[in-house]
Amino acid sequence: MRQNAAYGGAAGPARSAASPRADFTIEQDWAAYTDEEHDIWRTLFHRQDRVLRDRACGEFLDGLRGLGVAADGIPDFRRLNDVLSRTTGWRIVAVPGLVPDAVFFEHLANRRFPSTCFIRSRAQLDYLEEPDIFHDIYGHVPLLMNPVFADYMQAYGEGGLKALRLDALHYLARLYWYTVEFGLVRTREGLRIYGSGIASSKGESVYCLEDSRPNRIGFDLLRVMRTRYRIDAYQETYFVIEGFEQLFTATRPDFSPYYSALRQEADLPPGGRSCRATSSSIAAAAGRRRSPIKKGRADARPRV
Ligand code: PHE
Ligand code: FE
Repeated sequence: MRQNAAYGGAAGPARSAASPRADFTIEQDWAAYTDEEHDIWRTLFHRQDRVLRDRACGEFLDGLRGLGVAADGIPDFRRLNDVLSRTTGWRIVAVPGLVPDAVFFEHLANRRFPSTCFIRSRAQLDYLEEPDIFHDIYGHVPLLMNPVFADYMQAYGEGGLKALRLDALHYLARLYWYTVEFGLVRTREGLRIYGSGIASSKGESVYCLEDSRPNRIGFDLLRVMRTRYRIDAYQETYFVIEGFEQLFTATRPDFSPYYSALRQEADLPPGGRSCRATSSSIAAAAGRRRSPIKKGRADARPRV
């Protein structure tokens, strides 16, 4: 999970008493996990294994297997990093909780993924307000094994540093939210999950695909950046990509003109239904003759 401070993020509990370094990294201290903590991991892992088998996209499931993230207990970052760094050049670094935006982006821009180390308690199996190691590792790291997604995350980090300079982080944070955290992808077999906020939640994994209430809308960069999100409930809208290439291609242009154009437009509510023409009119305002972005299919509710 990654909440922009403006949306009310709280610092997570530090597991290690050691004070963090300047880049906020700490040691995972793997040997210090208790049997109970490993057992909570096993419970969460087995539950999600069943739920995600036919709900997560192939890239996610392949990444999970390839990494060797397993049921036996909380993984040791050193072991995961051997595989991950050989595969895509990414590395996991341990942090005590949410870190300042600039620090977070700096890590991503250098292919380092900041992960918390603590695990939720048994009373919080279903819902936790802040990221823990299960969300960060099980939810986020499998896709960092995918070369296209790995590049997208690095580009996002660079884009984050730029958005900070342009005072446009609230727009870019929505892109992260609706893709990295809560994205769906269309596959030949139907809609599948790739967002980590979904993949680490049993309830939302079912809800996002099978419930009739949420909108499932074709990915539209400008609409995503206009759409507010909720951090305290299941999403009312999911954006569906056609594949990771689409995500990477749509986010390649310079966002500066988009940010200027977005400032002239009202934000959209998280559950809004109709907003045809938004992308093309904003793209026109941003000085483009034709929107490079495929129009979102507002109101589309594909069945799985
Ligand atoms: N192209 C974006 C910019 O100019 C950077 C970015 C890339 C942002 C990928 C998000 C994802 O700001
Ligand atoms: Fe996350």
